[in-house]
Amino acid sequence: MPDYPRFPVIGTPLSSNAIRVMMLGSGELGKEVIIELQRLGIEVIAVDRYPNAPGHQVAHRSYVIDMTDGKALRELVAKERPHLIVPEIEAIATQTLIELEQEGQVEVIPTARAAFLTMNREGIRRLAAEELGLPTSPFFFASSLSELRDAITKGIGYPCFVKPVMSSSGKGQSKLNGPEDIEKAWDYAASGGRVNVNRVIVEGLIDFDYEITQLTVRSLGIDGQIHTSFCEPIGHVQKNGDYVESWQPMPMSALAIERSQEIAKKVTDQLGGRGIFGVELFVKGDQVWFSEVSPRPHDTGLVTLVTQTQSEFELHAKAILGLATDVSLKSPGASAVIYGGIEAKGIGFTNVHLALANSGVSLRLFGKPESFMKRRMGVALATADHTDEAREKAKLAASQVKTV
Ligand SMILES: Nc1ncnc2c1ncn2[C@@H]1O[C@H](COP(=O)(O)OP(=O)(O)OP(=O)(O)O)[C@@H](O)[C@H]1O
Ligand SMILES: [Mg+2]
Repeated sequence: MPDYPRFPVIGTPLSSNAIRVMMLGSGELGKEVIIELQRLGIEVIAVDRYPNAPGHQVAHRSYVIDMTDGKALRELVAKERPHLIVPEIEAIATQTLIELEQEGQVEVIPTARAAFLTMNREGIRRLAAEELGLPTSPFFFASSLSELRDAITKGIGYPCFVKPVMSSSGKGQSKLNGPEDIEKAWDYAASGGRVNVNRVIVEGLIDFDYEITQLTVRSLGIDGQIHTSFCEPIGHVQKNGDYVESWQPMPMSALAIERSQEIAKKVTDQLGGRGIFGVELFVKGDQVWFSEVSPRPHDTGLVTLVTQTQSEFELHAKAILGLATDVSLKSPGASAVIYGGIEAKGIGFTNVHLALANSGVSLRLFGKPESFMKRRMGVALATADHTDEAREKAKLAASQVKTV
C-alpha cells in the first residue's frame, strides 16, 4: 500500500505516479479543499452519503457510501488505494480508520486518533479538561434522564446546555432555563444525535463577551519539522448552534490572543498530524475557555476565502501534502450564510447579479442537489477596510440572493 512520503514528488493525476487523496465527506468545505488539491495536480476521490454532493462535482471520481459502515469504507480504500484519507465530517467509522492506519494501509488526516476523539464530545472534552487541564465550561456526562437531573440539580445549575455526545451543527442541542426543561432536552437530544447512544453532555453556560474560531495549522517546514501557525481570530454569531455570520479579524486583548493561541497549541499538539484545526473558544475580557475543536477546516472559516492570502482550504491542502503554508491576513472581511429557504430539489438562485454588483462582494453557491429551509446552500463574502462594514456588505448580499 502507498506510503505518503515526507517531501512528495507530485505526480500526474490519473497516472501511476499520482498522489491520491480520498475525501470522506464532500460538502461545501470539502469542495473547496478538493479545488485546492486539484490546483496542485492531486488525484482526488470524493465520497459522500448522497449523489452529486458539492465535492463530487469537482473530483476525479466520486462514490456514494455510508461512511459509518466500516466494511464499506475498508472496501473502498482497498479499491482506490489513496495515500491520504481526509475526513470532512465527524460521522465516519473512525474505528476502521484507526485499524487501517495501524495496518499501514493509509495515512489519515490529521490522525485517525484525532478523528476518533473529536467525533464524540466525551473524547475531546475529557482530553482537554482532564488531561490537558484547559479551562472549559463545567460539564457532566449523563446516560439517563435521572443522571442528567442529578447532574444539573446537584452541581451544574441553570442556565445550562444539553447536547448529544455525537452531533454537530447544534442538532439535538438545547438550552435549559429551569427544571421544567430537563425532560424535553433529554428527549430532544435522543432524537438529534447521530447515533442513538443515549448519552449527553450537560454544560454550564459560559457568559462570554464573544466567541471565536482560532484556526491553527500544523504544517511541515522545509526543515522537515512540524510548525504550528495561527490565523487571525475569526468572530462569529451562532443561532441554535449553527453559524450564520463570521468575520476576521476579531479584535481581542493581547492577553486573550495569547491565551487562545496557548490553548490551541496544547490541543493541536495533543491531536498531532498535519492539517488545519478549528479551535472554538469563548472569550470574556482576558479570560478564554476551550469549547471544542474540528481537526479540519471550519464552517466559520469560509470567510478566509476572501480575507487570507491562503484560505483555510488552501492551508489544509498544503499542510496535508507536507508543503509550507502562509497564514497571513490580506484584508478584513466577513461571511453571511445563504439558506435554502424552500424545500425543493434543483433550486434556482435569483438576483445573483445584484449581490455581485456590490464592490468587494463574492459568492459561493454550493450546488447542493436539494434545498431545505435551513440548509446552507451558499455564502456571501465581503471585504472592506473594517469588519463592521464587511459584515453589513456580506449580510446585504446574502439577503439579496433569493431561492426559487
Ligand atoms: N457552555 C456553553 N456556554 C455558552 N454558549 C454555549 C455553550 N455551549 C454551546 N454554546 C453555544 O452554542 C454553540 C454551538 O455549540 P457547540 O459548538 O458545542 O455545538 P455543535 O453542535 O458542535 O455545533 P457546530 O458543529 O456548529 O460547531 C456555540 O458556538 C455557542 O454559541
Ligand atoms: Mg461548535
